[in-house]
Amino acid sequence: MEPAGEVVPLRSVSDEQLPKTSIEELIFSRRSTRHYAADVPIPFDAFSSLLELSSRGVAADCVALGAPSLHDLYLIVNNVEGLAPGVYLHHRHLKAIELLKEGDFRQVAQRLAVGQAYAADAHVNCYYLTALGPVLERYGNRGYRLAQVECSLYAGKLHLATHAVGLRAVGSTSLDDDVTEFFSPHAAAKSYMFVTVFGRRRPRGQPGTGSRSTRL
Ligand SMILES: Cc1cc2nc3c(=O)[nH]c(=O)nc-3n(C[C@H](O)[C@H](O)[C@H](O)COP(=O)(O)O)c2cc1C
Repeated sequence: MEPAGEVVPLRSVSDEQLPKTSIEELIFSRRSTRHYAADVPIPFDAFSSLLELSSRGVAADCVALGAPSLHDLYLIVNNVEGLAPGVYLHHRHLKAIELLKEGDFRQVAQRLAVGQAYAADAHVNCYYLTALGPVLERYGNRGYRLAQVECSLYAGKLHLATHAVGLRAVGSTSLDDDVTEFFSPHAAAKSYMFVTVFGRRRPRGQPGTGSRSTRL
């Protein structure tokens, strides 16, 4: 799918500049974070690197190496240095994001997360959506599980990578159909699979911007 709107090239740091933390250390130190420093932007380089690093594919015996992924990654960007807040689509093969809709969508993010304030406070909400039609045609009923596993592995890599660059993340729950509706018409006929939100951790005791926190 080629971009139809304004494209912003990503600016990832080189592999040599990446932290040398081992995957084992990351896995053991990883925790979910629900408190974000909403008013402090995260660096564009870190944002770019996280998208790039988490979307390099996963090994699977049923999907050819290097085959296109089964999902699209939609973003609600709340606070990234130099980036207009809004809705973006990640074009991994272009190493770029496409602006779909500019604006402040913190409250939408909170609503889609069933009222949980961390989605409004987090710097980025990453929604993984799949057009299930062609996937079910190719893989049969197991295609749904395959798409879910793929999306959650990408999201898991993203979660681990946030720790590597000093940021934090949490996997979340969403109002599935409302997610598709919000990202439509672009996401029409796609199904919600997974969401991870990430950002800079807020020190305890400091208030966030989320209007009312509903903890599930
Ligand atoms: C599919 C999925 C949905 C989740 N939904 C929520 C949620 O709606 N609210 C929340 O606070 N945490 C949510 N989480 C985060 C888990 O509750 C979290 O991983 C759990 O609290 C374990 O904590 P840890 O990640 O620090 O080990 C979700 C995680 C996953 C994988």
